[in-house]
Formats: sequence, C-alpha cells, structure tokens
Amino acid sequence: MEIIKIDSLAYKGYGVGRVNSRVVFVDYACPGDTLKIEIYDERKNYAFGKIIEIINPSQNRIAPVCKHFGVCGGCNYLHIPYEEELYWKAEIFKTEFKKAFKDFENVNLINDFKTQNYLGYRQKLGLKISPPFIGFYKKLSHNIVDIEYCHLAKAGVNELLKNVRNILLSGNYRDNFLNEISSVTLTDAGLKNITFSLKSHIRNLRQNYDLTFKDIMERTGADNVFVECRQKKGDKEGKKIIKYSRDRDKNDKNLRCQSNYFTLKGKKFTYDLPSFIQVNKEQNENIIGNVTAYIKNLNENRGIYFNSSLDLFCGYGNITLFLADYAKMVTGVESDPFSVKLGEKNLKLNGIKNINFVMSSAGDFLEKTGKKGVTYDLIVLDPPRAGIKGLASKIADSNPSSVIYISCDSMTLLRDLKAFAETGYLIEQINLIDMFPRTYHVEHVAFLSRK
Ligand SMILES: C[S@@+](CC[C@H](N)C(=O)[O-])C[C@H]1O[C@@H](n2cnc3c(N)ncnc32)[C@H](O)[C@@H]1O
Repeated sequence: MEIIKIDSLAYKGYGVGRVNSRVVFVDYACPGDTLKIEIYDERKNYAFGKIIEIINPSQNRIAPVCKHFGVCGGCNYLHIPYEEELYWKAEIFKTEFKKAFKDFENVNLINDFKTQNYLGYRQKLGLKISPPFIGFYKKLSHNIVDIEYCHLAKAGVNELLKNVRNILLSGNYRDNFLNEISSVTLTDAGLKNITFSLKSHIRNLRQNYDLTFKDIMERTGADNVFVECRQKKGDKEGKKIIKYSRDRDKNDKNLRCQSNYFTLKGKKFTYDLPSFIQVNKEQNENIIGNVTAYIKNLNENRGIYFNSSLDLFCGYGNITLFLADYAKMVTGVESDPFSVKLGEKNLKLNGIKNINFVMSSAGDFLEKTGKKGVTYDLIVLDPPRAGIKGLASKIADSNPSSVIYISCDSMTLLRDLKAFAETGYLIEQINLIDMFPRTYHVEHVAFLSRK
C-alpha cells in the first residue's frame, strides 16, 4: 500500500500523483485527494494504482449519480462536477498537443464545448449479453456489469432497455433465446431500433426465432428490429442482416411521416437501417455548425470557394448533406452498404442533387482517384477511433486547399495531424466538443489549410 496526493488528471481520466518521485496513474481519483492506493501495474517509469481508501477527499469530490460508477467501464468523471471535467478535458488535450507539437501557441484551440445535457444524452447504447446479465463490460475486463438503467442514455433508450430486459429475462426467453445473443444495440433517433447480434448462423435463426423477433418488436414498441448474424456456421466474413419492421412508411414513399425521420440543423435524416450514428444529437449539431461556420468564413472573409468536395468516412451523410450548400459537387465515401443506402434516402428526403455517394473503403477510393489524378478543393474526414494511419499523404495528393478532420480520439488525431503537417498542411484551429460527457472521450474538429 502507498499514500499519494493527486495533483491533476491525465488522458483516460486517471488521477496523477507521485510515489517516491515516480508518476502513478490512479483510477477514479480527483485532484486534491489524498489516497491509500494499491499499485496493480508497474512500468519502467510509471505505475497504475487503484484506490483502497480515500484518506482525505478533494473538496471537489461529488457523490456519483450511478451505483455502478467505479465498476462499470462506461463513465470516468461522475465523481467530479461537470465544470471540473470540462476544465480537465481541455488541459489534458493541451498537454498531449504540446507533447506532439512544439509550436502550440500558433493553434487556435477553441474549447467552448460544454452542454447543458451532460446526462441523458445518448441516443444509442450498445450492451453486451452474458446470461443472465445484460450490461457493459467492467473496467479492463470482459465480465459484465448488469445494467437496468444508464444515466448517460436518453429517456427513450432507457425505456427500450427496460422493455428488452423484461422480455429477454422472462421465463419464455431467458434459457434458450438469450444464449443465442452476444449483444444488443438500442437506438432512439426518430425511429426506435433494436439490433441483436447473434452467435448462431442464419438457418437456425429463421426456423427458431422469427416469431420471437416479431414479438419483441411488438412488446418493446420498437419501429425496427435488426438481427445481425453469420451466413453460415464458421463464416467470419458473410454478415447478414434481417430486418423486422412496422413499415409505417409503406404508403408514404417520400417518408413524410413525422416519426420516420429526425432533423439536424433543418435537414431531414432517416435511420431505418443499422448504421453508425453520432451518439449525442445536440453536440452532433454543434459539429455541423462548426464545420459550416468555418467554410462560410473561408467564403466570406478569405474569398475561398469550393468546386469539388470530398467527405471521407461519410456514414449516412451527416456532414455530407451540409457540404452540398458550399460546393458545386460533393462525393461521400463510406464502406458500410447500409449507411450508403441511408445516405441516398437522405438525399431524396432533402431534394439534394449535387452529392454522389460511393461505397468504398477510403484507402481504395484515394488509391483509384490518385491514379487518375482527380483532385478535390475541400476534404472532410471523420474516421473511426483508429484514425487514418498512412492516408494523410494520399489525401494531400488530392491537393485540397482545406482539410477538416473530425476525430473522437485525441491520440490518433495528433498522430495523423503530424502526418498532415509533414505533407505541407498548417493546423489553423481545433475545436473541442464535449460529445461524450462524464467519460474521458472528447470530439475534435481540426481545420487545416495548405501552406
Ligand atoms: C466516426 S463514423 C462517422 C460517420 C459520419 N461522418 C457521421 O458523422 O455520422 C466513421 C464511419 O466510417 C465508416 N468506415 C469505417 N472504416 C471505413 C473505411 N476504411 N473506409 C470508409 N469508411 C469507413 C464507418 O462505417 C462509419 O460510418
């Protein structure tokens, strides 16, 4: 056992202090705490510890709103006030940025990123299933914490969770069907969707569980139930999706029915296929607002206009549809076929004609267009957490005067920004957006221009 005083917070939300001059990262600690800790992971120059006893709590400590805090791997900051969390998120990013780039002062870092809704914001929740538990992984483990209610989820998602739990954990389903499911994703975004990932392959599924899925759809009030499974036993590649739907839009080809779409900054989006969706609607609109305000400023104050624009990792067109207002032609590139289908529906919903969606991996697309010498004036990219290792130079080959990089991971963003800097791009501004309150995650929008 060691005694430690916590001075600051670090990436992933660890409290930081020193024991015998060695840095120790402590889970769920708060700056100002004096703690008795146990070291559980020793590295050459630092160590990780867990709290055994709070000897003297920081005056900033608050009681966590959730009984699972400290065990569940979901939240990191329920023990500190939201204002404190925001302060540390910005400090942590500044520290990491300074490590990566020496000329930090030249970057305009905007951290006006707070939200009023720092609880109850998630419109999508993915839960793991290991009978009889439905919940999230425990921190650093594949064991599951059983979750009846998630404080980060919006009311409609918690309602779905309650209903799904009631059905799946009841006598009818608990012993056979529950064993077939590995995870369930609940979404409330205009439409209420439930997506089950099954362990078994398609033939078993149709024979045994057709009625089950219809029953679940009826009793949970979901608009759609999607079932994701393998085509054949042992088949790792062939993912198959079966859709059960209320088909409320059957007689409404233009999807005019209010409940079939959600709006973002005045544009309509449907979500009737399983696809990526930003978890926080309010902060997603903030991202869109940041992107469009920046482009408007380029137009109005610097006389920069765009003919052709490319949106890589475009999903269902969340950002793409807004680029249509600022470029003559926009291409959206996305590898998931359902997202591309949704994107095309979204174009129709909004009567947009100058966007072309391409189903491709970003790497393959850039390879092909690079060979043909195709160029783009503006490139927006919003990759998954892993970032774009190796793609910055290919993006630079397309010769955009502006690049807008949206990222949910500070470390891969900084790695990729260094690669952009090496290919002749200047980081003008980075906006930090609190897309994931009460967790250590932050969304970033980085604006780059060709030197
Ligand atoms: C973080 S999401 C962003 C989606 C969209 N820009 C939005 O705001 O909703 C990343 C997207 O990249 C897609 N994706 C993942 N790997 C890809 C790849 N190699 N090439 C193209 N798209 C990819 C995912 O399917 C997902 O839709």
